[in-house]
Amino acid sequence: MNNKIIVSGMRSTGKLHLGHYFGVIKNWVELQKEFNCYYFVADWHALTTKFNQTENLRQNVLDVTMDWLASGIDPDKSTIYVQSHVPQIAQLHILLSMITPQNWVERDPTLKDMAKILRMQKEEGKSETSSASYGLIGYPVLMTSDIMMFNANYVPVGIDQVAHIEISRDIIRRFNNIYNTDYFVEPEPKLTQVPLLKGLDGNKMGKSFNNDIKISDDEETTTKKIMTGITDRTRLRKTDLGHPDNCEVIFDYWKIFGNDTEIEEIESMCKKGEIGCADCKRKLAQKVNEYFAPIREKRKKYEENPKLVEEILIEGSKKAQLRAQEVLDKAKEAIKMF
Ligand code: TRP
Repeated sequence: MNNKIIVSGMRSTGKLHLGHYFGVIKNWVELQKEFNCYYFVADWHALTTKFNQTENLRQNVLDVTMDWLASGIDPDKSTIYVQSHVPQIAQLHILLSMITPQNWVERDPTLKDMAKILRMQKEEGKSETSSASYGLIGYPVLMTSDIMMFNANYVPVGIDQVAHIEISRDIIRRFNNIYNTDYFVEPEPKLTQVPLLKGLDGNKMGKSFNNDIKISDDEETTTKKIMTGITDRTRLRKTDLGHPDNCEVIFDYWKIFGNDTEIEEIESMCKKGEIGCADCKRKLAQKVNEYFAPIREKRKKYEENPKLVEEILIEGSKKAQLRAQEVLDKAKEAIKMF
């Protein structure tokens, strides 16, 4: 255990999928052994694009948290909290918004993707405007506040978030310069080196693409979904020789869920036409279900007792608030606020 601080968050989008699990959560579970970790559910960030779809906001926060807890994020090791339960983050955000030049946030390349989502929402009739809100444009400023609030040294993120962290470093450096302090740490992104788990149709795994497997899916649903997974498109009959290298999705899953012997076995049987794609997928589904069985079982315990999850979040948020207030006081002191 060292005393370096890690902060990372996930938007409260609801039940998480295997892309989240292998891309983010598994890494977080490892990091809590070594670092002082702050993990939070970013419900304010969820509002930046879903401000008018809030019916499930509360349940979504609980679902994300249950997936974390079931997967091994440990409230005795890490501070787990809800972003909106730490009002100091909003206060720091307003201070940062004063010193952030408008063109820094407008340059953020991910803003273009988010603007695309908004245009789509308008076309689908889910929103009356395609224009980005003030809050959405300030997305990286709020993220900076999340990170600066606990003086994080490292921020574990995917490659898509690195541009945001760059802006955060710039804003924090600017804060230190303007107010003549060196208290606030410039955080470094900590990239997760994991093979990307594609969605079952070969695209990026995502809830909105309807190509994901949820951590919380039951065995039957998991198997059904895996049976739709894309394999070698040139292979029409099960006796045709297969090409694992051209298998678009399913063989990649084997590489994650099989041990070396199993992977070699499947590869060789496929190449020789000894196993058809349907049987291969059925076998894979069994492996996936075995892997997630204990996690799903643990999740059920929390589903049956959501009060327990709420208590964990309340405790974590209290802990986070105490530390956040100390840091906020430092920021106000530096600004010479009354
Ligand atoms: N923007 C991140 C995402 O969409 C979530 C997030 C919000 C975050 N604040 C953060 C991640 C602070 C790391 C640190 O995935």
